[in-house]
Amino acid sequence: MRISIGCDHIVTEVKDGIVEYLKGKGYEVIDNGTYDKERTHYPIYGKKTAERVIKGEADLGIVICGTGVGITNSANKVNGIRAALVRDIATARYAKEYLNANVIGVGGRISGVGLIENIIDEFLNTKYEETPEKEALIKKIHSIETINEDQLGNENFFDEFLEKWQQGYYHD
Ligand code: RB5
Repeated sequence: MRISIGCDHIVTEVKDGIVEYLKGKGYEVIDNGTYDKERTHYPIYGKKTAERVIKGEADLGIVICGTGVGITNSANKVNGIRAALVRDIATARYAKEYLNANVIGVGGRISGVGLIENIIDEFLNTKYEETPEKEALIKKIHSIETINEDQLGNENFFDEFLEKWQQGYYHD
């Protein structure tokens, strides 16, 4: 199984640890960054990680930021993504079993590493058992999506925002 993973600069070491953890279990991991502690912006990595899944380069995605909220929301904006922000085992199971979530999000400053590993294990090991009811619900959720074709796979999509960050327009 191929896993796409991404994070922001707040939790790079948590992501690096999870990459090693997954590789140790025999998973193929695509690490989309970020790779150091230099200030970055979580939408970039939510988008990159999720797009690998949508393009079929990865089977599932994992996104991590401080709380998990920002990067999970960003991943969720990629059409076709069902990203679940999780901080307990039952929710991780539900996300796969009922929603066939294809991305899981965790807060690297909220949940401990041991719990994050257990959440990811639960998510990866739980099987989605398809039923007409579940499929209808998933279809309904995706019917809400807005099409924004020009952002898909566009490496320069955030350039304007990044420039404004550099110029001090935005703050945390
Ligand atoms: C830092 O940008 C911080 O806001 C981020 O890691 C996350 O906690 C957002 O949900």
